[in-house]
Amino acid sequence: MKIKCLLASMLLALGLSANAQIVIKFSHVVATDTPKGQASEFFAKRAGELTKGKVKVDVYANSQLYKDKEEMEALQMGAVQMLAPSLAKFGPLGVKEFEVFDFPFLFDNTADLHKITQGPVGASLLAKLEPKGVKGLAFWDNGFKSFSANSPLKNVADYKGKKFRIQSSKVLEEQIRALGGIPQVMAFSEVYQALQTGVVDGTENPISNLFSQKMHEVQKHLTLTEHGYLGYAVIVNKKFWDGLPADVRGQLEQAMKEATALANTVAKKDNDEALEGVKKAGKTTVYTPTKEERMALKKVLVPVHAKMVDRVGKDLLEAIYKDTGFDPKKL
Ligand code: LMR
Repeated sequence: MKIKCLLASMLLALGLSANAQIVIKFSHVVATDTPKGQASEFFAKRAGELTKGKVKVDVYANSQLYKDKEEMEALQMGAVQMLAPSLAKFGPLGVKEFEVFDFPFLFDNTADLHKITQGPVGASLLAKLEPKGVKGLAFWDNGFKSFSANSPLKNVADYKGKKFRIQSSKVLEEQIRALGGIPQVMAFSEVYQALQTGVVDGTENPISNLFSQKMHEVQKHLTLTEHGYLGYAVIVNKKFWDGLPADVRGQLEQAMKEATALANTVAKKDNDEALEGVKKAGKTTVYTPTKEERMALKKVLVPVHAKMVDRVGKDLLEAIYKDTGFDPKKL
């Protein structure tokens, strides 16, 4: 009897009860018609199916529950169980190494990126979250970011003196400074209004984020710079995850595997479709930089790697260079 009571109170502490359904609150900040939006809905559906209804995943999209910083704190406290923050948002958690994904022009294409996110370097990065009470389950893609503003962005000089909204990453701050711009850290949910009211002049996004937040309505110019990557780590509260019955955890791992495959296949398509949407809306001039213009941007931004290497560690950066074949000296 005593043991039963003890077990019940332990389960209660973990947010479970002996027969009750296990509820996972999954919070994120983007729209449902984005790679992360779709993958999280798919995970919810598969989690329900594979656990035969033992687990219910409630997805809260579009910053409904929390904004950027609050989201991480809520996960650590156990107020939500699952998140998929962008890799730029792990610095404030004290795991600065994730900011390596913010290094401009580090990945030439998705195949190179996957060598890292789906290889040993990615696994070792996720392991660094555990002392923070967080377990990393997977990396999900969004895509490559492009700059937008209310005036044309063709040459490096065009960035000078402009205020650009960025995520809370020291590397991204340095990236904007290298261009002569002024970085402004801001929650994702506040960007549309900041652009509309002129609090900032421009921003950087994969096109799926720009389009689904209607930022193209308040940005006259979009230059397809594809100068950096934006993706996510799907994370859970470690205590909650470790406390799940082993069979249920296995089923959720399977659902996550399938959702990850989906995220990483729809990402490119979503971004391509979003670009079509921006063009059709006709409010933004979309400019594809010439090879020379993109190279000029690259020459200004790659030195950010050397400047910010101490933030992420030399060994990590070199491991990535080695796996992808990127050589900052060969531009
Ligand atoms: C941002 O803040 O720009 C992104 O992290 C939003 C997201 O989750 O894609």
